[in-house]
Amino acid sequence: MDLDQAFAAHLDYEEDFAEVKGQEQARRAVEVAVAGGHNLLFIGPPGTGKTMLARRIPSILPQLTLPEALEATKIHSVAGTLGAHQALLTRRPFRTPHHTVSDAGLLGGGAHPAPGEVSLAHGGVLFLDELPEFHRNVLEVLRQPLEDGVVTVARAAATLSFPCRFMLVAAMNPCPCGYLNDRRHECRCTPLQIQRYRNKISGPLLDRIDIHVEVPAVRYQELAAPPAGENSAVIRARVTAARARQTQRFSHARKVHCNAEMRSRDLHRHCVLDAASQQLLKMAITELNFSARAYDRILKVARTIADLDDAENIGEQHVSEAIQYRTLDRQFWA
Ligand SMILES: Nc1ncnc2c1ncn2[C@@H]1O[C@H](COP(=O)(O)OP(=O)(O)O)[C@@H](O)[C@H]1O
Ligand SMILES: [Mg+2]
Ligand SMILES: [Zn+2]
Repeated sequence: MDLDQAFAAHLDYEEDFAEVKGQEQARRAVEVAVAGGHNLLFIGPPGTGKTMLARRIPSILPQLTLPEALEATKIHSVAGTLGAHQALLTRRPFRTPHHTVSDAGLLGGGAHPAPGEVSLAHGGVLFLDELPEFHRNVLEVLRQPLEDGVVTVARAAATLSFPCRFMLVAAMNPCPCGYLNDRRHECRCTPLQIQRYRNKISGPLLDRIDIHVEVPAVRYQELAAPPAGENSAVIRARVTAARARQTQRFSHARKVHCNAEMRSRDLHRHCVLDAASQQLLKMAITELNFSARAYDRILKVARTIADLDDAENIGEQHVSEAIQYRTLDRQFWA
C-alpha cells in the first residue's frame, strides 16, 4: 500500500453530508466555499443545522497530501493534541474554540510558546460559532494569520513561527433573539438592536469572508423524511476537480493557490466578464446598495462557481449566484 492509498483509507470522516436534511442552498454554498478556498459565514436561527454543516466541512476538503499531513502532525505534536498511538495526522482538523478564547489561545503563546487554535486548524477548518459573542479584539487579531498563513509567537524564551492556513467558518444568529425571518417564532428585535448586533463583527474580519449564507428553519416534512442529500465523497470529487483547475491556473503564481487568494492583478487576468455579466454586477452594486468591498468578493466567488461548472469563462449565471452570497452587504431588514 503506498502513501496515497494510506490516506485514502483514512477518508473515513465520522460525520457525513448525507446526514444533513434539506438546506440545499446552504449545502451548495458550502461546496462553493470549499472549492475556491473561501471563508464562510452561516446566518440563521438556532437549531437549523449550522453547526452540523460546519462539522462536515473537513470531509469534503481534498484529500490531505503528505507534506500537509507532516506539517499538521508537527503542530499537533508540539501542542500535545496528537492521539496517544497516532504517528501521523490523517484527517483534516476541525477546531472550534469557545467565544471566551483569549488572543494567546487563538494565536498561540505562553511561557514556552505553543501553537494556538489558528495553527491547530492548519490544513483544516477553524469554526467560530456564535461569532458576535467573541471579543472584538480577538476577531481583529485574526486578520494577520488569515492574511499571512503563518503566525509568529514571541516570548522571552524563544520566538517560533507556526503555519496556519485554514478555512475560516463562522456562524451567527440573524438578530439578538435569533428569530428574525423565522416563521416558527416572532422576532421582537428593533432595527437598531439588529444593527448593533451585526456591528459587533469587526469590518476587517468580515472583509476576509467571501461567502455569507442564510440557513433557515427546515420544514417539518423535510426533517421527518429520510435524508436525501449527496454524501461527502460525491461532493469531494467535484471540489477536487475544481481545485485542480485552480492549481493549473496559478501554477506560475507564487503565493496564490486558490481563487480566494487572488489579488487585484489576478482578478483582472482571471475574472474577465462579458458585457451581460458586467451589467448584472453593476446593477447589483448600485441597486442592491452593496458596499465596495463586495465587488472583488463577487468576482472571486463567480470564478469558483465557473470552475465547478468546468467553464473557461465566467458567465451571467455564475455572477448571479455569487451575488446571492453577500447577505450582510444588503440592508434587508429596512
Ligand atoms: N438540516 C438538518 N438535517 C438533519 N438534522 C438537523 C438539521 N438541522 C438540525 N438538525 C438536528 O438538530 C440538531 C441541532 O442542530 P445544530 O447544527 O446544532 O443547529 P445550529 O447550529 O444551527 O443551532 C443537530 O444535531 C441535528 O440533530
Ligand atoms: Mg450551532
Ligand atoms: Zn430577533
